[in-house]
Amino acid sequence: MAKQFLIIGAGSGIGAELLSALAERGDEVLHMSRNPDAAADRPGVRGVRWDAVAEPFPADALPERIDGLAYCPGSIRLKPFHRLGDDEFLEDLQLNLLGAVRAIRGALSPLKRSENGAIVLFSTVAVQLGMPYHASVAAAKGAVEGLTRALAAELAPAVRVNAIAPTLTDTPLARRLLSSEEKRAAAAARHPLGRIADASEMAQTAAWLLRDARSVTGQVITADAGLARLRLM
Ligand SMILES: NC(=O)c1ccc[n+]([C@@H]2O[C@H](COP(=O)([O-])OP(=O)(O)OC[C@H]3O[C@@H](n4cnc5c(N)ncnc54)[C@H](OP(=O)(O)O)[C@@H]3O)[C@@H](O)[C@H]2O)c1
Repeated sequence: MAKQFLIIGAGSGIGAELLSALAERGDEVLHMSRNPDAAADRPGVRGVRWDAVAEPFPADALPERIDGLAYCPGSIRLKPFHRLGDDEFLEDLQLNLLGAVRAIRGALSPLKRSENGAIVLFSTVAVQLGMPYHASVAAAKGAVEGLTRALAAELAPAVRVNAIAPTLTDTPLARRLLSSEEKRAAAAARHPLGRIADASEMAQTAAWLLRDARSVTGQVITADAGLARLRLM
C-alpha cells in the first residue's frame, strides 16, 4: 500500500527534494505552500495552498490517514542583535515554530491513524553552535528543538517526532550567502568536511526519518559537515 505524506513547503529546496524522493518510491504526497502548483504536476502529488503564518490550516484537504508530516518553511535572518526588533523575532517564531505547531495540530488525527506516523521538523546548526548575527533564527529554531522533544514524549508511541539541524545548504533560502564563487569557497572551507551541503542529502535524511526510522524519536539529527563538533588540528 502506498504511504501518504504531507509536506509543507515542497516548492523549493529541501522540501522539493523530499517530495521527489517520496514520489519516486510511489508514495502519495500532499504539498502545501503559498505557491503549491510549483511541485504538484506529477503522479501521486497534490498541491493545496496554505500560508502557514497567515491562513487557517486547510484540514479539509487532508486524507483520512497520513504516514508522515514534514514542515519545511524556515528563515535565515542574519543581523546584529542591536538591529533586531521585536517584530523580527516574532516573524521568525511565527514561521519556524508556530507554523509547525499549526500544521501538527491540523494533521494529528490522520497521523495517529498510521501504524508508523512520523513528523520531521527543521532546526539549524546555529542552535548548538553559537554564531554571531543568528540570535533571532537560533532562538526560533531552539524553540523548534524543544517542541520536537516535548511532542516526541507526548505523542509516543503513536507518532515519532524528530528534527534535522542542517548547516548552510545550497537552496534558494541560502542563495544570498552562496552567490559567488568566493562565498562558496569560504563556506566550504569553514566546514571540516570541506563541502557545502545540498538539498537532496537533507531530503534523504528526512525521508529516512519519515519512512524507515521506526526506533528513532525525540532526536535532532545534526547534518553540519562537522561544523559544530570537530576542529581539524
Ligand atoms: N538552506 C539552509 O542553508 C538551511 C540551513 C539551516 C536550516 N535550514 C532549514 O531547513 C528548512 C528548509 O530550508 P530550505 O533551504 O529548503 O528552504 P526554501 O528553499 O526557502 O524552501 C522553503 C519552502 O517553504 C515554503 N514556505 C515559505 N514560507 C511559507 C509560508 N509562510 N507558508 C507555507 N509555505 C511557506 C516555500 O514555498 P512558497 O514560497 O511556495 O510558500 C518553500 O517551498 C527550513 O526550515 C530552514 O530554516 C536551511
